[in-house]
Amino acid sequence: MTTGKFISLEGIDGAGKSTHLNPIAEWVRAHGHNAMITREPGGTPLGESLRQLLLHQTMDPDTEALVMFAARREHIVKAIKPALQQGVWVISDRFTDASFAYQGGGRGVPLERLRYLESWVAAEPRPDITLLFDLDPVEARKRVVKGTPHPDRFEREQDVFFHKVRAAYLARAAAEPRRFHILDSSQKPDAIFAQIQSALGSLIS
Ligand code: TYD
Repeated sequence: MTTGKFISLEGIDGAGKSTHLNPIAEWVRAHGHNAMITREPGGTPLGESLRQLLLHQTMDPDTEALVMFAARREHIVKAIKPALQQGVWVISDRFTDASFAYQGGGRGVPLERLRYLESWVAAEPRPDITLLFDLDPVEARKRVVKGTPHPDRFEREQDVFFHKVRAAYLARAAAEPRRFHILDSSQKPDAIFAQIQSALGSLIS
């Protein structure tokens, strides 16, 4: 059996990635493959418990990075790898790039620490494709304020934090241009989905 493909969605809060999770899964199924939608932090019972702590409990930036990677390890071992091995395509709302962007860029955790954690617990699988929903933080903030009555501790961060997160995402995308597809999230959802379809086309052999 051929293994499934691994697609990750990334972007700052309010960039609009979640809207496209189900349409992407439908697109994958329409091309004859099973699809699983999952998310980080989360994706397993333990990961979802850790998510509650991460989103609502104040903690030191290094602790935050360690807990993100702990949740990720469970996610990889218990959910992502088994699915891919069964030929299921995995669509993950965030993955390791988010730790480099938020904990690295946003919080200032040194990149070598994150690289070490990645090589220790998340060396593989790597996403086959990463869709980066790119949007100006001021525009993204307007969307979060409108759509989120109870913002979590990340969503309550100031614009300067999200400028750093966005810059870190764009730096990662520049370093791996074959894996990353940068989407202009200021466009209307239909136009964004057209960009997504063209990016996903490269996965269909
Ligand atoms: P997300 O599920 O995208 O938020 P929401 O459900 O509110 O749309 O992600 C939750 C938050 O976790 C988001 O603000 C980014 C943050 N995060 C990190 O800081 N580092 C990480 O490694 C991951 C996976 C997420």
